[in-house]
Amino acid sequence: MYSDKVMEHFRNPRNVGVVENADGTGKVGNPVCGDIMEMTIKVEDDRLVDVKFRTFGCGSAIATSSITTELVIGKTIEEALALTNRAVAQALDGLPPNKMHCSNLAADALHDAIKDYLSKRDGLEEPAGEGESSQ
Ligand code: FES
Repeated sequence: MYSDKVMEHFRNPRNVGVVENADGTGKVGNPVCGDIMEMTIKVEDDRLVDVKFRTFGCGSAIATSSITTELVIGKTIEEALALTNRAVAQALDGLPPNKMHCSNLAADALHDAIKDYLSKRDGLEEPAGEGESSQ
């Protein structure tokens, strides 16, 4: 039912935990099952140099998050934003159809963390004084 890659990442998940002094944090819930995923990222020179995850999710969520961190560490922000849940599932040699929704968590939490980073970065780069204060 599950590919060897899914089982391998489920048994030995990579990059579990929280990045110290994270530049961005993303947290999403899966509307289908109610599971939760958190991703933290470290960015240097527009590249993800560290990504970690924590999840209250199923085995597929753990495996997809684990491989997502491997896929995007070292990538640019733009490349990481382009990562789709389908690409994540493909990198695991597929997921059972009724588990495809689980792969949404990892990509969504990653994108959320990047957006958090970008909003903080742009906020910091905004010169003090006459900035637009509305969000
Ligand atoms: Fe909830 Fe897989 S069943 S993330």
